[in-house]
Amino acid sequence: MSIKIPRGTQDILPGETEKWQYIENKAREICGRYQYKEIRTPIFEHTELFLRGVGDTTDIVQKEMYSFTDRGGRDITLRPEGTASTVRSFVEHKMFGLPNQPVKLYYMGPMFRYERPQAGRFRQFVQFGVEALGSNDPAIDAEVISLAMSIYKELGLKKLKLVINSLGDKESRKAHRDALISHFHPRIGEFCSDCQSRLEKNPMRILDCKVDRNHELMGTAPSIIDYLNDESKEYFSKVKQYLTNIGIEYEVDPNLVRGLDYYNHTAFEIMSSAEGFGAITTLCGGGRYNGLVEEMDGPETPGIGFAFSIERLLSALKAENVELPVNEAIDIYLVALGESAKDYTVGLLNKLRSAGFSAERDYLDRKIKAQFKAADRYNAKYVAVLGDDELAENKISLKSMADGGQSEVPLDTFLEKFIELSE
Ligand code: HAM
Repeated sequence: MSIKIPRGTQDILPGETEKWQYIENKAREICGRYQYKEIRTPIFEHTELFLRGVGDTTDIVQKEMYSFTDRGGRDITLRPEGTASTVRSFVEHKMFGLPNQPVKLYYMGPMFRYERPQAGRFRQFVQFGVEALGSNDPAIDAEVISLAMSIYKELGLKKLKLVINSLGDKESRKAHRDALISHFHPRIGEFCSDCQSRLEKNPMRILDCKVDRNHELMGTAPSIIDYLNDESKEYFSKVKQYLTNIGIEYEVDPNLVRGLDYYNHTAFEIMSSAEGFGAITTLCGGGRYNGLVEEMDGPETPGIGFAFSIERLLSALKAENVELPVNEAIDIYLVALGESAKDYTVGLLNKLRSAGFSAERDYLDRKIKAQFKAADRYNAKYVAVLGDDELAENKISLKSMADGGQSEVPLDTFLEKFIELSE
């Protein structure tokens, strides 16, 4: 039996990789404008990091981690997300002491979750994410949301919906938690075993249970928005005011709780409303996580961030019929006829490439017609034709594929002439 790719993973082949690179470059460029700097953390971490960081009542930790014991007996997990690692690194490298605060970081790389694969849900996927650590200013919440929206908009997405909510501070969450326990406790026997164990540990997790989502108590559950204290309300209204200031439309969804434990205050998701995008409409998720740095043994430091997968972004682009302007045209294709001419193109090709041009030639000893066809497939801007006779006469013919214009150029000054033409 031949070996196939593991379920929930994909090969990204030439033709597609150009789109990935385009998106990655756009994300990096926008991070530069917003002054977020790249951080690269390991793909595996101590399992303990995610138990503490993501939360041991979450689906991610309970069901989805790729964990193993390494040869040294250590419990290791392939990272399911990037926030916990970023915060670990922030504490480990004492970034709280850096002169520039808040510390604004971004990352891009593969994440791993043992989920049931379906459209938009992979077991290995690439997340782009940002984290801003060290500021409690609601303006940074608006900045982070605006950064995510800018990437989507500049790539050409239009059918976007930003949904926000506030999960409040510790005190508000405690009040909400008590209300949830009172709400679900009398009938908890009707819920799945996961929800039963969530009731005491983290009742908010019940609200995003996939098994019991249609239970009648879900619709009538107490909403966090009714339990926000004055400080939390004030914070949330500032975030909303700043979003309005920068022209970002949003919808408040009091049921948005997010699937990770570390959130408080602002929580948000960006959804695609494009037809045909699929059942999972969330493109991007994020929120504030004041308290997580302390959880990782660092000093009290607020934080906020988001992450999205490039896989879902690509599906949204497809659903909206957006073609990314990936330029696959090469500058020049060299067609050679005859042994001496072929030998000569080896050096010429090398000179062109060294001068910065994308250039290609035939390596299959093809006839002239097939070489021209290849030049077409490469979408060459120019085709240069060299035969043994021309070589003897020190000339080469150059054809512009854009206007069909043809000229003969002295071979020994061809590179200079081509540079001039391309300026
Ligand atoms: P999350 O909601 O678990 O949050 O994931 C964020 C995004 O990652 C999702 O909206 C989706 O685009 C993508 N994603 C998640 N799972 C999959 C999957 N199986 N296949 C494809 N894409 C997927 C986090 O990970 C948080 N760390 C976000 C964050 C950063 N919050 C604060 N800072």
